[in-house]
Amino acid sequence: MRRLTPDPGPTTVDEQLDGYRPWEETREERPFLATNFAVTADGRAAIGGRSGPIGSEQDTEMLAGLRTRFDAVMIGAGTMRVERYDSLPGERPLVLVSGRLDLPWEAPVFAEERGRVLVFTASEVEPPETAAEVEVVRHEGRVDLAEALRHLRHERGIRALLSEGGPHLHAQLWAEGLADELFLTTAPKLTGAEAPRILEGERLAATAELELAWLLEHEGELFARYRRPG
Ligand SMILES: NC(=O)c1ccc[n+]([C@@H]2O[C@H](COP(=O)([O-])OP(=O)(O)OC[C@H]3O[C@@H](n4cnc5c(N)ncnc54)[C@H](OP(=O)(O)O)[C@@H]3O)[C@@H](O)[C@H]2O)c1
Repeated sequence: MRRLTPDPGPTTVDEQLDGYRPWEETREERPFLATNFAVTADGRAAIGGRSGPIGSEQDTEMLAGLRTRFDAVMIGAGTMRVERYDSLPGERPLVLVSGRLDLPWEAPVFAEERGRVLVFTASEVEPPETAAEVEVVRHEGRVDLAEALRHLRHERGIRALLSEGGPHLHAQLWAEGLADELFLTTAPKLTGAEAPRILEGERLAATAELELAWLLEHEGELFARYRRPG
């Protein structure tokens, strides 16, 4: 892997993430929040309805490494229904955002005793018994993401949160000014098919300018880290 900017030269995922300390950037009202996506060169966030075929093994290494730098990982129900998460390293909680609570309860993260899941939902449905520890926080109408992040910061001690999507949750986070950074892997491939981009549904009030914090390259795949200009 090469670092193209800043300070060009050889690097590794571990070396890049070693000095990356998002928990030191926590906010008073919410955790520091970074989002992570992989896209094709034509800007699509899924191939055949899944994110897996987009990135390489290096991208998987980056995803796994990033998870260890955050206190919790958040996804929307749409991503959970397709990607069926495992439990996270170090018993980090998986934070789920769901309107309907129509979740794949047989997925590994619910089936494993070490799984820890915190669900924010607007539904009154009771979750089934699972081996994993599942807690539910209920909101009226739809999940108020600013309020959910405040809860994570103050009630759960979450200082740094990694959002792994999907596009509908992601768009709200940027539209509501709740995201600080974007890790974006661009794979050297085209899909040409109809598939979501990394922001869907919610419109940004204005174009959000980003600063490039680093750019890495491995076998034609680009790993960018963008941040909101300070
Ligand atoms: N390329 C990548 O890196 C990447 C990453 C993640 C996902 N993806 C892909 O993206 C696709 C899924 O897209 P998506 O946009 O449907 O995923 P999503 O944003 O994870 O899920 C959308 C769902 O989340 C719930 N939700 C989001 N905001 C909410 C709010 N404020 N209040 C209540 N519920 C809320 C709703 O769930 P309910 O249905 O329960 O109401 C909504 O239907 C899949 O194909 C997946 O593979 C790609």
